[in-house]
This record gives sequence, C-alpha cells and structure tokens, in this order.
Amino acid sequence: MSLLDVEDLDVSYGAVQALRGLSLSVEAGEMVALLGANGAGKTTTLRAISGLLAPRGGTITFEGERIDGNPAYQLVGKGIAHLPEGRDLFPSLTVEENLRYGHWTRRRDRGDYKRQLDKVMDHFPRLRERRTQVARTLSGGEQQMLGVARALMSSPKLLLVDELSLGLAPMIVRQLFEILDGVNQEGTSVLLVEQFVHMALAHTHRAYVLAKGQVVLEGASRDMADNPDLVASYLGEGGGAEPEAPERKRRARAR
Ligand SMILES: Nc1ncnc2c1ncn2[C@@H]1O[C@H](COP(=O)(O)OP(=O)(O)OP(=O)(O)O)[C@@H](O)[C@H]1O
Ligand SMILES: [Mg+2]
Repeated sequence: MSLLDVEDLDVSYGAVQALRGLSLSVEAGEMVALLGANGAGKTTTLRAISGLLAPRGGTITFEGERIDGNPAYQLVGKGIAHLPEGRDLFPSLTVEENLRYGHWTRRRDRGDYKRQLDKVMDHFPRLRERRTQVARTLSGGEQQMLGVARALMSSPKLLLVDELSLGLAPMIVRQLFEILDGVNQEGTSVLLVEQFVHMALAHTHRAYVLAKGQVVLEGASRDMADNPDLVASYLGEGGGAEPEAPERKRRARAR
C-alpha cells in the first residue's frame, strides 16, 4: 500500500476539464516531482489531494483510507500539509505567529507546540534569528522558508509543495531544496511541483510529467535526468529551460 494513491482523477472548473483520469502514487519516505508545462494541471492536482477542490471522478487514498471529498482542514489533521503556489503567509504577522497558525490542528497541546517549533527551527536557523520579524519584511527566500516551516508545524506525513522556486534566485532555490532533502530524510514524504526541472530531478526519487491533465511520462528521476530531451519534449515551448522558465513566470505574474 502506498502512502498516497491517486486513481483516475477527474477535476473540472465549470466547463474546463483540468484533470483527465490522472493517476499517481507516493510511497512512504519518497520525494516525488510533478512536472509539466504551464496549465498542465499540476496545481490542480495538489489542490485536489489537499482537499481544496472536490474531484468529479476518481479516488484519492491516503494510508489506505479514501479522502477524496474530505475538506482541507480535516486532511491537515490526517497528515497532509500543502504549501500553495505563492506561499499565502500572513504578511503582517511575525514569523512565530505564522508558525503558530501552522500548528492550529494540534493547538490544544502546548508541549507539542514547543517541541515542534524547536524541531522545525532546526531546519531554518535563519528563521530562528527572525522569530519576531514581521513576515512581509522577510526576503523572498526567507518568506518561502517560512512557508515550508509553517507547513511542517502540523507534523505532516506528506508535504505538498507548489513551486518552491517561484520568483527566487537559483542559489536560494538550491538551499531550499537542500532543506527539503533534510525534511524528507527525517521521514516526511514530499510531492513537489517545480519549474526548475533539473533541480527537481536532482532532488527527487521519482517524477511524473503532466500534459493536458494527464500523466504522459513517469519514472525514476535519475533516468529522466539522463534523458533531458525526452522530458523537454513533453514540457512544451521553452520547457525545461532554466532559469528562464521561472523568470518568465514571475514577470507574467507581476502586477
Ligand atoms: N479557478 C479556475 N477556473 C477555471 N479554470 C482554471 C482555474 N484554475 C485553473 N484552471 C485551468 O485548469 C488548467 C490547469 O491549471 P493548473 O493551475 O492546475 O496548471 P499548472 O500546471 O499548475 O500551471 P502553472 O505551471 O502555470 O502553474 C488550466 O487550463 C487552467 O486554465
Ligand atoms: Mg501551478
């Protein structure tokens, strides 16, 4: 039994069908990448798994239990944490206040809060130094660290990460991936969406490539890294180019 099993998932936004019979799995202890061109359905997949979207068809099973249709807040309690695209921090709250919010499903256990805060801060010495700093004044990389740290405060078994690299310099992205490696080595499974294809393949065990809401390629990340042309052929125009892909997206999203 896999930790997470997604079978034949269909998700629509009104008349737009975003996922068409998508299937994937994540084993306990695994770090898995979800790759694909803009609009392929990566964010939609994570949102369906974390309960932010109700699928129209298919099943999602977590630790052997059907969870499709469960609301997001219940799934956090079951061990699924989601770092959404764009982080979604509380900008006027401090680092520690943001982290406390990440612990809300276990808020009755004060001892656990202290232990968890300490454990999470061990991965992020930069945040430990900035506990009382307001989130909005953190650098982009520090904000993304805070996003990951907040997700980890619920002690997830599965961490879903949507575009860790968004708007960040390659060196910062590398540091964030190294932190994720550490989190994974401590036993948290990770399913991550990433535009930095080479970086994602270097840091994951397996990968799926999505196109038009379906899985078009899957395999060991090492094999895909050895076949960059094959992967790029599924990523559409400019797919896999780095660092242009995140750059382009950041510009497209700038207000
Ligand atoms: N709220 C929405 N309403 C209507 N259509 C949507 C909505 N969100 C996403 N879609 C559509 O669903 C499809 C998949 O979108 P999704 O955001 O999952 O793609 P993605 O792979 O995450 O892309 P990106 O790399 O640009 O983040 C796209 O065609 C998109 O236009
Ligand atoms: Mg997306």
